[in-house]
Amino acid sequence: MSDVTTKELRIVGFLCNWCSYGGADTAGVARAKQPTDLRIIRVPCSGRVDPLFIVRALFLGADGVLVSGCHPRDCHYSTGNFYARRRLEVLKQFLPILGIDSRRFEYTWVSASEGQRWQHVVTTFTEQIHSLGAAPKFMDVEPKEFKLGARVSTPILPLGAGQDQPLKELKTAIKEALPKLEVVIGWQQGRDPLHAVPLFMRKAEDVDKLIWGPCNVHNVATYLREYQGHKVGLVLKACDARSVIELLQENLASREDLTLFSLPCQGTFDYGRVEQCIGRYTQLSDVQFTQSAATVMVDGTSKTLPYAEYMQSKCLRCTSRLPKLVDISFGTDPTEDAKDARESAESLPPELALVESLSLEERMAFWRASMERCIRCGACRNSCPMCICRDHCISDTRDPHFMTQADTFLEKLFFQVIHALHLAGRCTECGECQRSCPLGIPILALRQKLNRIISELFAGYQAGSDPSQVPPLLCYAVEEPKIKEREW
Ligand code: FES
Repeated sequence: MSDVTTKELRIVGFLCNWCSYGGADTAGVARAKQPTDLRIIRVPCSGRVDPLFIVRALFLGADGVLVSGCHPRDCHYSTGNFYARRRLEVLKQFLPILGIDSRRFEYTWVSASEGQRWQHVVTTFTEQIHSLGAAPKFMDVEPKEFKLGARVSTPILPLGAGQDQPLKELKTAIKEALPKLEVVIGWQQGRDPLHAVPLFMRKAEDVDKLIWGPCNVHNVATYLREYQGHKVGLVLKACDARSVIELLQENLASREDLTLFSLPCQGTFDYGRVEQCIGRYTQLSDVQFTQSAATVMVDGTSKTLPYAEYMQSKCLRCTSRLPKLVDISFGTDPTEDAKDARESAESLPPELALVESLSLEERMAFWRASMERCIRCGACRNSCPMCICRDHCISDTRDPHFMTQADTFLEKLFFQVIHALHLAGRCTECGECQRSCPLGIPILALRQKLNRIISELFAGYQAGSDPSQVPPLLCYAVEEPKIKEREW
């Protein structure tokens, strides 16, 4: 077995106190020859290793990171490494989307008596890192913008058309239910007929303001956390209902407190594209919704917004127009009629397709350019229905001081990684983070990638599809059919 003799690289090792640290000690006591690149951080259990520790180490200049714990079934806290195995595998597959070679991170299992095995593991990993060379640094990469590819323009069903009667019935139902509820949340017209804002209905008169159609972009489930323990009604699009289901899965909402209303949704506007078309205006006097387009009168000029071109990309791939969980709904599900007219649900969303088309180095350049634009306004976090830590968000807390408030692209990218990893297995891809970003940064790509990894590893799991399911990173299995143990 060779020990590495070229110039040392920076490798960080997180070793569980009870097994792998003991194994490293055994190798030392036996005077087993080992490379000296590894800097060991002793942790109580591999389950204590937050994937963010690894990302932080790699962002701060580590050339490689190794995590080693007790063998499965031998964890001294009985299940710590089962949870760790899921998280670490997800992270390993996620790193390339950031532009980091996944071979720079490995995890394995070494027991306290396996001094020889430790010697083998540390030597093999060090050789692997030396063969890759020093890790490219974000700081050294020239930022580069990449444009999203052209959208597929497909003929689709009209948005919000033909919903007048169901909307009337819905309003009647809400008025009947209102006395038993503290509030019902839906949408009303915003600053002009092309923009909607959330509507909090407390009195019957409020209900008359309710609108339904392509402008209802907000995910009203985001407001649910403010009403925990209160009787609340929500008017939901099918995609918003997934957030409600996910909150129920995590016991962050109670089904008895909720009354869920809905109409079939036929898609909502992508306001980034709409604003590109109509530009700045002082007066928007009229909007006509027809079967295939909205015609807008801005500053005396008529502009047409064909739905096929101005719909959110998530709507083009939507397979369910009615929520999976609903108490009161009206109208019929148009999904069947629209089946052939929409993009395949399996097709990659444009943000993710763009990042995946780039080389690792280009991805670093892409994220650097994107994050340099970020103004740290926090809109992405605040609009996320699944972001629930509030005062305890580790990006804000000073104890521990996990990240700084420095206005550097790396800190801003790290914030996005925190958000994405905390949503792993929980994100319903409602797209609110990206929609609310005033700089139009395609941050949804990180969540979309994680969702695909989770689905691949855990039998097609989709967040927010079944209230009785436990999110995969909040549970474990003793045998993991899709996770290949990394045994060297
Ligand atoms: Fe070693 Fe849990 S105690 S992995």
